Amino acid sequence: MKNKDFANLWSENLMANYALPSITLVKGKGSIVFDADGKKYIDMLGGIATNILGHSHPAVVNAVNRQIKTLSHVSNFYSHPNAIELAQILVRLTGDKQSRVFFAQSGAEVNEAAIKLSRKTGRTRIVAMTGSFHGRTMGSLSLTGQIAKRIAFQPLLKSVKHVPFGDIKKAKKAINSKTAMVIVEPIMGEAGVIVPPDNYLQELRAACTKYGALLVIDAVQTGIGRTGQWFGYEYSGIKPDVITVAKGLGAGLPLAAMIAVGKNSQLFEPGDHGSTFGGNPVTTAASIAAIKWIENNKTLPKCKVDFKYLASKISSISGVSEVRGAGLLIGIVLVRKISSDVSSALQAKGFLVNAANPNTIRIAPALNISRKELEQFAKAFKEVMSHVG
Ligand SMILES: Cc1ncc(COP(=O)(O)O)c(C=O)c1O
Repeated sequence: MKNKDFANLWSENLMANYALPSITLVKGKGSIVFDADGKKYIDMLGGIATNILGHSHPAVVNAVNRQIKTLSHVSNFYSHPNAIELAQILVRLTGDKQSRVFFAQSGAEVNEAAIKLSRKTGRTRIVAMTGSFHGRTMGSLSLTGQIAKRIAFQPLLKSVKHVPFGDIKKAKKAINSKTAMVIVEPIMGEAGVIVPPDNYLQELRAACTKYGALLVIDAVQTGIGRTGQWFGYEYSGIKPDVITVAKGLGAGLPLAAMIAVGKNSQLFEPGDHGSTFGGNPVTTAASIAAIKWIENNKTLPKCKVDFKYLASKISSISGVSEVRGAGLLIGIVLVRKISSDVSSALQAKGFLVNAANPNTIRIAPALNISRKELEQFAKAFKEVMSHVG
């Protein structure tokens, strides 16, 4: 079967909530993927910041194979070693021994969990940012600051106030002694890889501390090494109250975590929250293997170097106004609103990217992508811009 056949079958059998995919990916190894027509691509998007070690990485494959042959699932009436080991790793990575972890499957779910956790403070009000993306379930959609995604599903949670991302004055005005939580992405991913101004996170931290509101860092997209740091906020030096991670955490398998820091880790009591598949033995096996590989191979500093390399190669290309982001979460800002044409031209040349907004191309490849593959991408980008840009 070819891409066309799959597209027909897709539209005959799946809901139309996504744009109809033009290609069907059938296999991959590292950062290389193949579609149903046999065309080869360099995957510069990594399942949108999810395949942190690319496709079919031996460390992940072996860990998953070993685990599924041994024990595939346990209910949350029982413990199992992998969930404990992964929670230990995440607690260590936060640098706060008091931290505690709740596992789920997706970013939306752990942001939902954060809303529930914040209710345990006895408060209900939430401050979130315009343009942000926190998920599409009713609670997480209430946090998402994009009217187009929300409008058809009103009424949402009434207690959420959106303020412009990066505007500390407006945020400070909105945060008060009734605020349960403030949620922010350290870099806004879906909006087009938007980096906040210097000191923004520090000032949000100070305002939350002043009024006793929880500061929730949504590291669903920036987390697990994506920005060259484990969660994406560390450059600011702040200590959040809650961190949510998903996407890269399962190295391609569905896994998410809410990590509550300090005394906030004690807010949930038995019966307050749960998830059948959260912290499943197989998904946690994949995650442990991937995180250990990243640590053993010093991948975080590599991602920082990769950012500098790509920025130096791409920012000087005619038609590019800025290369922004951190590590391997990168927004290439174009002078003109032609990102979907550029994305299509790159796809035709064998590179998968995302047109995050009309003038921004987003890339979020595997953290272990090679220098040669990055070089090929930079060259192809230049060629595409000379035709399309
Ligand atoms: C910052 C952020 N939060 C939450 C989500 C929602 O994650 P999921 O699609 O796994 O529910 C996303 C997804 O793109 C995201 O980028």
